[in-house]
Amino acid sequence: MKKKIEQLEQLREEALLAGGKEKIHQQHQKGKLTARERIELLVDEGTFSEVDMFVKHRTTEFGLDKQKIIGDGVVTGFAKISGRDIAIFSQDFTVFGGSLSETNAKKICKVMDMALKLGIPIVGLNDSGGARIQEGVSSLGGYADIFLRNTLASGVVPQISAILGPCAGGAVYSPAITDFIFMVKNTSHMFVTGPNVVKTVTHEEVSFEDLGGAETHATKSGVAHFIYDSEIELLQNIRKLIDYLPLNWKETPPEKEFDFNQNLIVEKLDEIIPDNPNKPYDMKLIINELLDESEFLEVHENYAQNIIIGFGRVAGQTVGVIANQPAVLAGVLDINASIKGARFVRFCDAFNIPLLVLEDVPGFLPGTEQEWNGIIRHGAKLLFAFSEATVPKVTVIIRKAYGGAYDVMNSKHIRGDFNFAWPTAEIAVMGPKGAVEIIFKKEISNSKNKEEKLNEVLNDYIEKFTNPYIAAERGFIDEVIIPRETRLKIINAFQLLKTKVDTNPKKKHSNIPL
Ligand code: HXC
Repeated sequence: MKKKIEQLEQLREEALLAGGKEKIHQQHQKGKLTARERIELLVDEGTFSEVDMFVKHRTTEFGLDKQKIIGDGVVTGFAKISGRDIAIFSQDFTVFGGSLSETNAKKICKVMDMALKLGIPIVGLNDSGGARIQEGVSSLGGYADIFLRNTLASGVVPQISAILGPCAGGAVYSPAITDFIFMVKNTSHMFVTGPNVVKTVTHEEVSFEDLGGAETHATKSGVAHFIYDSEIELLQNIRKLIDYLPLNWKETPPEKEFDFNQNLIVEKLDEIIPDNPNKPYDMKLIINELLDESEFLEVHENYAQNIIIGFGRVAGQTVGVIANQPAVLAGVLDINASIKGARFVRFCDAFNIPLLVLEDVPGFLPGTEQEWNGIIRHGAKLLFAFSEATVPKVTVIIRKAYGGAYDVMNSKHIRGDFNFAWPTAEIAVMGPKGAVEIIFKKEISNSKNKEEKLNEVLNDYIEKFTNPYIAAERGFIDEVIIPRETRLKIINAFQLLKTKVDTNPKKKHSNIPL
């Protein structure tokens, strides 16, 4: 027995060193952690149980039969985050550059399959040179096996990808199918084709960082949902995100204890928005006042900033916040904001996360750029996502709710459960100036003093329409509330909605405009 145990211990030691001390040193020199160090930092101490530690590849081509490293470039298993189970794989760049072989893919698929059976989230830590070149189509097949599982797991368990090194070629499509992508500045890169190929094909000269670095994907492409300066910070924030989420679609998110015997009136809310309705303000100030402990985990913070999305808690319950941001482009809805909002709404709906919508939107962004690039079909995504969602849905109209955007932003008509409005709400087909210029075109042009006439009809229109009471008369607004009451009202609404059941007609699947 002693000898057998010693042999096992020796094998384990070998596996822990993987590519060897020199490769580990090189990894650290690049400012990167190893696959195992990352797991250690991510999960609760001592909870990681590894599977397939001794797997080796079976390739004989290119002399690979003489280069077998146990583990074969990926560490896989199960662990806990805040006491709750997850499945995890962590690509090991010290072994064949973390490249994906047939056996390496099998290891990943094994934990993914188990995660689906168990109903637990899958976290992938990516750091890989892509398909193992020596294995050819076997490694491509391995990727496809993973893509299929990512797709089948979508909406069943949360899937989170961290990009902590290279992620190139078709390999990007596994993270792309998952729910959230985390990147780290300077050391992680994602692209379908690298700078050299770009130069050959399009003659553009571009650096790795500019083409596919964290900042690029967080601001320009919207591929990355979260970016951080360091791997440690990134891993801590994956923990934070998981704490907001249920383990699978059948569960509700974990609830934090909440003391209802506290003052829920927030006087400060009466003072945030400016008297002049055309002046911008920062919607995040309102979000902070409405969420427990002012804690807000913003998603896509640097992308399409005219809409804000993220997670917080209301009386201990996780909610997904979708808010227009008047401080950026007046909070208008454009293509990127619509896509950003729609995907988030669908994630929340898939995982039983109630939606809190804060509305101040002048409408959809006009212009050829938007029209030619398809604001019609992209804007439809947000409308579709809100309409389809059956989770508890609460809307507060803070100020503007004009045009189609009024309908889209979780209006009563598309199954908003509680639709509140502040007395400052302006609900109409369009903003006053545009409206009177259309409906009083003749009167204005026939009048002697055009400016005087314009002002007269403008004031009339403002008095008539820029308020929430017409909508409230029709029951499209459930209650006009004083801003300071908002936290209390949304707490009551979400508590009441805990037992909400709503369904959509039976079908194979819907056909959201893509
Ligand atoms: C086999 C690979 C590898 C790969 C890297 N290595 N990528 N081995 N298959 N895909 C090995 C290297 O040979 C080297 O081995 C070790 O990993 C470290 O690589 P280096 O090049 O020394 O590291 P670095 O300078 O940091 O560069 C990293 C890199 C580069 C940018 C990732 O290795 C690279 O460009 N690799 C190829 C990337 C690529 O084109 N992959 C295919 C993408 S297409 P030794 O023994 O010297 O230490 C794809 C298709 C997926 O993945 C399809 C899905 C549909």
